[in-house]
This record gives sequence, C-alpha cells and structure tokens, in this order.
Amino acid sequence: MDLEELESLAREKLDTGFYDYIAGGSEDEATLVDNEAAWARRRLRPRVLRDVETVDTSTTILGQRVKSPIGIAPMAMQHRACDEGPVATARGAAKAGALFVMGLFGAGSASEVAAVAGDAPRWLQVYVMKDRQRTEAAIARSVEQGYHAVVLTVDVVRQGNRRRDVRNSWAFLQSDGKIEDPNEVFDHALTFDHIEWFASHAGVPVVVKGVLRGDDAAACIEAGAAGVVVSNHGGRQLDGAISSADALSDVVQGVDGRAEVFVDGGIRRGRHVIEAIAMGARAVMVGRPIMWGLVVDGQRGVANVLEGLQNELERAMALCGVRRIDEIDASLLAPSSLDGRGFPR
Ligand SMILES: Cc1cc2nc3c(=O)[nH]c(=O)nc-3n(C[C@H](O)[C@H](O)[C@H](O)COP(=O)(O)O)c2cc1C
Repeated sequence: MDLEELESLAREKLDTGFYDYIAGGSEDEATLVDNEAAWARRRLRPRVLRDVETVDTSTTILGQRVKSPIGIAPMAMQHRACDEGPVATARGAAKAGALFVMGLFGAGSASEVAAVAGDAPRWLQVYVMKDRQRTEAAIARSVEQGYHAVVLTVDVVRQGNRRRDVRNSWAFLQSDGKIEDPNEVFDHALTFDHIEWFASHAGVPVVVKGVLRGDDAAACIEAGAAGVVVSNHGGRQLDGAISSADALSDVVQGVDGRAEVFVDGGIRRGRHVIEAIAMGARAVMVGRPIMWGLVVDGQRGVANVLEGLQNELERAMALCGVRRIDEIDASLLAPSSLDGRGFPR
C-alpha cells in the first residue's frame, strides 16, 4: 500500500482549496510534520522463534470487538470528498471491521451513518456549541440511534491559524449548504466540570479528544471520561504542540490504567500501530489517509486503506514475534526510542 500515491491521486481529483483544507496544518506546520516524523524515528526490538503461524490483530475497544486496533478519526467535510459522504466511510469501516468515529460538524447525517449495517463500533464526535442544548440534543439523538460512545473534542477553543485556508478563502460549508464559523458557534468556556456533566448525562461512555498531557488526562478520567484521545488535531490547531507520539507516554502514566488511551496523528504504517500499543495505547485512529481513500474510490477506497494498514500490522506483528495484540509490550521498543528516564518516548 502506497499512501503517498493515494494522496497524489486524490489531489488530482480535488480543487486546491479542498485539498489544502485536508492536507494542511496551522501556521508553519511544524506539528503536522513532527506527527509523522515522531512515529517514523522509533525503532523496534523484534522477537524471533515465537511460532507466528497464526497472528490475530483483533482486540476490544471500550469492550467491543474490532478486527484491529486501527480506527477512523472524526473528520468534517466528508460530503465534499464523496457523494455519499460519511455513509461511504461507515460502509468502508464496517467492511474492514473497524471503529468509525462520525464527526458531526459539517459532515452529514448521523442517522444515515447509524443505519449502515455492521458489527464494528460507531462513535459520535461532537464539539460543544455555545447553544449547549444543540449539543445535548445531538448526543441524545445519537445514543437513540445506536452510537456506542460520544467523543468530545476539546482542542478547538479557537480555530487554528490555517494559513492555506486563509489563502484559499476556505469556508466551512455544512452538508446543508450553511456556512458555520467554528470561532462563533463553539463554546470556548468548557472546563473539566462540563466533562463531568456530559459523562453523567450522555448515557454512553464519553471519550475526550485532544489531550496532550498526563495531568489533563488524569483530570478527564477523574471527571468520568471512559477514555482520552491523545491528539493535536493532526497539527491543525496549536502549531508547535508536541507530536502525539511524544505525548503518549505521559498521558498513559496520567491515566494509570483507569481508562483507555487512544492516539491519532501521523499514523501511516502498521508498525506505527505496534509502537503506539507498546507505549500503552489501546488503539489508534487514522485521519487524512481515510479522506484520500474516500476521494479516490469511495467506500472501497476507505476499506482498502484500512485493510492495507491491517495487513501491514499483521506482517509487522509476525516479524516482531507477537501473535496477539496483548503480547505487544514496551520491551519491543528499542532504547533509542526511550527518553532519559527510561520511559518510552
Ligand atoms: C479534513 C479533516 C477534518 C477534521 N475534522 C475534525 C472534526 O470535525 N473533529 C475532530 O475532532 N477532529 C477533526 N480532525 C482531526 C482528526 O480527527 C485527527 O485528529 C487527525 O486528522 C489525525 O491525524 P492524521 O490526519 O495525521 O491521521 C480533522 C482532520 C482532518 C484532516
């Protein structure tokens, strides 16, 4: 699987504004670049002679079985990537037995996605709106429709300064044709108290997305979150923020086994998934490559990206001498991947 080629194919089909919206990051794109580089620079200590005749990539996420610990990160604007929008993404995910996180903002209809057949879990991602009742109503509806968890994204207290979008005069066109400015509609006054409120009222597990520090992660869990997603929003928010790979160990320590830790940002290879699990993540989420797959070949394109990554993971697990996800541990990380205190970086 060649994700770079997939991106070029997608780029040929898109206008500059939409391509840049997907590919770009904020300001100097330092964090965007670092996200991929931080996984790429880690090294593994493979085991040999472990009978890897059969390798099983399956695991559970918040108690639900998935084919692998590779899921789809929430992304807006899928209706512009493909006519069927997130319905196609959900079908691709269902075919691959992968977690799909539906982004509610500017992404399409949550009920149509909920109606897609399949056993893999589906979560709903929301931003808390100033009109908080709108968020509460969306959550209540989604739980009724069968979403298994709610993801609250907390790293958009201001829209990141995405210079490509400024240059292209990019606007958030919702699937209903309305333009919504995140700076106007999102609630910027959220605190851990609100996490507590959502966690006790949502009716399904609440996962907080956009956490980069162990102390914040601990506070989220103490407020009732069932999990956190270590994420810098794919380098689209604070430029200069730590890469998600480098932030992961601190968050794992802060959570201290009390909840599940997920990570996204720059994951492009099966071996990156092994690195994330070895550092203590339960699963990873992938963003842009899914968009490229969706643009190039709709639901099939999404399934191909997921299955390609699953195949890479299976091969890398075999080559590391691990047969099951729970055999992946920190000893697989080379010392060059450890920081001065001996923790995985
Ligand atoms: C086009 C695009 C739209 C996104 N929209 C959202 C969104 O609506 N909500 C959200 O929480 N994250 C959003 N994100 C961030 C992703 O969920 C994820 O954190 C990031 O893309 C992961 O990094 P990767 O693209 O390097 O895999 C978006 C990312 C992209 C590329």
